[in-house]
Amino acid sequence: MGVFNSARVQHALLKGWHAWLAGSYLVAYVTADENIYAMHQFAGYAVLVAIVARLAGGLLAPAGSPLRLPRPDLEVTRAWLSSRKGRPPLFAWFAVVLLAVVGPAALSGAVADGAAWMEHPHEAISEASLWVIFGHIAFVTWMYAGKKGVARVASWLAGMRQSSLPKENAR
Ligand code: HEM
Ligand code: HEM
Repeated sequence: MGVFNSARVQHALLKGWHAWLAGSYLVAYVTADENIYAMHQFAGYAVLVAIVARLAGGLLAPAGSPLRLPRPDLEVTRAWLSSRKGRPPLFAWFAVVLLAVVGPAALSGAVADGAAWMEHPHEAISEASLWVIFGHIAFVTWMYAGKKGVARVASWLAGMRQSSLPKENAR
């Protein structure tokens, strides 16, 4: 187990897991409404296995490991909101929301595989989960690219609009 004690290896595992989860979610979502049910089934179960593996790994990981399940804490969040120092606890909240939405989306799919009455709830949870994921992507982009990154894109877009004006007028 020695190699798994290294934080670098655990970070790499977490990244690999994220690619597995995000990739299989994407395939499950785009194949949902198509006539390729076997692929939807395969990708959907891959999401389910990823979530179960994350929960199992998170419960077994020792304290301080990046593989520990995110544990949002109200007190820590309140303290961060007033000081704005350190890693934002909002990451942990978002991770829990994601696991709590994507997990039931895949689980309800597995139930719908045998029980047709579950198809509608499964569709509803899955459609809702997509919005949470859009929120997730927007959130990490904002947190990592930062306000500077967003401002740069905005000024680039504004610059494009300005530089295209004279050309349009000249036409
Ligand atoms: C282009 C798309 C995506 C990007 C750029 C992205 C980026 C990230 C990043 C940077 C983190 C780590 C946040 C941190 O520092 O704590 C993260 C965590 C996470 N992402 Fe994504 N993500 C994407 C798509 C997805 C999708 C499609 C899913 C779900 C199906 C997903 C589920 C999660 C979960 C559950 C975590 C928390 C991991 C944990 O600590 O347990 N992500 N994502
Ligand atoms: C997070 C993973 C999953 C996502 C995002 C997802 C998404 C969806 C969506 C959006 C629909 C509605 C399709 C429509 O418009 O009719 C659907 C239908 C369905 N899914 Fe999933 N699904 C997932 C996992 C699974 C799993 C694990 C299974 C198990 C085999 C499954 C089985 C089904 C079934 C039986 C239907 C109904 C098909 C029909 O209407 O004929 N899904 N899924």
